[in-house]
Parts: sequence; C-alpha cells; structure tokens
Amino acid sequence: MKIREKFRELFGGGGEIYAAPGRINLIGEHTDYNSGYVFPGAIDKAIYCMIKPNIKDKVRAFAIDENPDKVSQYSEFGLQEEDIPVDRWAKYIFGTAREMIKSGAAIEGFDVVVSGDVPLGAGMSSSAALECSIGYALNDIFKAGFDKMQIAKTGQAAEHNYIGVKCGIMDQFASCFGDAGNLIRLDCRNMKYEYYPFDPKGYKLVLINTMVSHALGSEYNDRRASCERAVEELRKVHPHVKTLRDANLITLKEISGRISEEDYMRAEYVIEEKTRVIDVCLFLDRGYYEGVGRMMYETHAGLRDKYTVSCPELDFLNDRAKEYGVTGSRMMGGGFGGCTINLVKEDLYGEFVSRTTADYEKRFGIIPEVYDVVIGDGARKL
Ligand code: GLA
Repeated sequence: MKIREKFRELFGGGGEIYAAPGRINLIGEHTDYNSGYVFPGAIDKAIYCMIKPNIKDKVRAFAIDENPDKVSQYSEFGLQEEDIPVDRWAKYIFGTAREMIKSGAAIEGFDVVVSGDVPLGAGMSSSAALECSIGYALNDIFKAGFDKMQIAKTGQAAEHNYIGVKCGIMDQFASCFGDAGNLIRLDCRNMKYEYYPFDPKGYKLVLINTMVSHALGSEYNDRRASCERAVEELRKVHPHVKTLRDANLITLKEISGRISEEDYMRAEYVIEEKTRVIDVCLFLDRGYYEGVGRMMYETHAGLRDKYTVSCPELDFLNDRAKEYGVTGSRMMGGGFGGCTINLVKEDLYGEFVSRTTADYEKRFGIIPEVYDVVIGDGARKL
C-alpha cells in the first residue's frame, strides 16, 4: 500500500491506518440543513490516513493524491488557532483537530499521510471522508472518548469554521454511521436514524461522473441563506416555524410576494423534497422501484429548475437516462458538477452505460467515469 511506504519514508515506522468512506444519497438533497430527511449510504471508496503521535506540538501531514503542480503535498502546522495552514486539504485536518480540541480533547502533535479512492470534487463527499477519517483516528490515538455522532459533528464544524461551507450533517453522518448493504434514513431534526437494507432485485445503482469537479462554497451558502430568509418571513405569520421542515406549500404561499421569487422557489423545492423522501420510503417498503425512480427524476427537475444547483453536464446525463428508459436518475450531492445517481434495471445497464458515456464524450469531449454503487461500512480502524 503506497500510504505505508510514504509514511515510512517521511516519518519512519509505526502508525495506524484508519478509513472513512464517501457517500451516496438516494434522495433528500439540500434537506439536511432544513431539518428534513436524507437517505444516504456509505460507499466502498474511502479516504485513508496513516497516523501516529509525534511527541512534538506540530502536525506533519502529507497528501498523496494532491497534484504537486498545483498545491504543496506536504504541510506542517501547529495546533493553535493562528496556525491555520494555507492548503485546503490541510485545513480539513487542522480544522478537525481544532474542533476536537475546542470540545475538550487533548490532541497533540501527530504525523499523518492521507490517500484514498473517493473521487475528489465528484459529489461523493471526499471532504467529509477526510474529516471523518482524521476525526476517527485522532479520537482513537488520543483517547478523546467521542462517539460517532460527535465525530460527525466535529467534521461538520470543521467545514463551517475552517473551510467556510455551511454544510448540513448528511455527509459526515453517512461517513461515520455507514453499514454495508444498508442505506440510512436520517431525520436531521432530531438525528434519529433507521437502517434500510438496500438490495433492489433486478436493479443496479450506478453513478456517472460528469468530471466537472466542484468544491462547494458561496453558491451553497447562498442556497442556505435563501432558506433562512424564507423561514424568517414564515415565522412572522406562523411563529412555530423554526426551519422549512415546519412549513408546507400552503403556508409558503402565504408569504409569496414577501420574499424574492428566487427564495420562494428554493423554499418550495425543499418542502417538496421533504415529502419525496417519505414517499420513497413507502415505495421501498413495497419494492415499488418505479415509484422510487419517479421521485428521483422529480428531485432532479426541482434541483435544476427551482434550486438551480444543476449544470448542463448533469442535465445532459439526466436527459440521456430518461431517453434510454432508466428507472430513476438525478444529480447527487451539493451540485454544480459531480455525479448523477441512476437506478437502472440490470438488463438495461450495459446498454445505458455504453451509450451514455459515448454520447457524453461526443458532446463534452470527455469520458465520464462510471462507478457501480457498493454500499459499504462507515469509519473504522483497519
Ligand atoms: C453537500 C453538503 C450536505 C448536503 C448536500 C446536499 O454534500 O455537505 O450537507 O447539504 O450537499 O444535499
């Protein structure tokens, strides 16, 4: 394993290896920070870290997968607030450690090498995977006593405070709580969750990567702000409304004209998506995959037309899926690039994948990567 070799070369022997996976999300997009439901699962692709305490008060970190022509692969930093490193990848490590320290953990200097096979910027949460693998590892080696939920929340806080993305909890939750073969329905209002065995007979889940890589930032925060503005107005009429979870299409109508058209459409999408997740659960219970697929298409349309987080490449893939008779398809994750997730009948799979990749290459001049979804385990020590 290259991570071992690199670790030995840079820091000598010793060290433990930890892994935390990326995630897929069947449905429930941009609902987590609105206290709605999400339906993610961990995947069999992870970010690994090899780590050991270094008896110094410094972190020495190396990222194998970063491109040395663009950023430095090596970073050295302290653990005080002012020691924040420059490179984004290192900020995730620093931020996770800092958040743990702020919550009372006695984290000291460590040496770490990170690497993995979660495609970066592909909407499969490579950043949450990095935060959770570091969080899980630090928790273990410094005996911080955090549970999985605390590790997930630490990752989210790192993202908020050191990267500037006001993300919800879905990605870090899935990375920590993943369980092979199971999707997880999480209620982001009270953090109650339920495992759903997912093995749709006769169907496959497949991701197609637009190869448009996008690090979430201001556009994401901007969507969140729209939701918050809608809530602020709603609350003037219905004081019990704390988040869009507490609103419905009728209450939303009452404030039409009092928020911008843009904010209104975004809020409308979130309210509709909340119901779609519940419908999908009912459909899954009955093995009615056509219904699941229909909801996925509806989600895509909502994300494209109302939430406006899609892009031409994602829409192209979604249109091809529809044209080729795929049961369900939609963009997945924060948006602006990354993958579509497709629920496709096994006997259509080969044809769909080969035709779509050829069409995409012809249109955009780039071959999209295709990943069969294997639902794997959450963060762990290897
Ligand atoms: C990103 C965020 C998540 C979630 C999704 C959209 O992945 O990190 O919290 O909001 O976008 O569903």
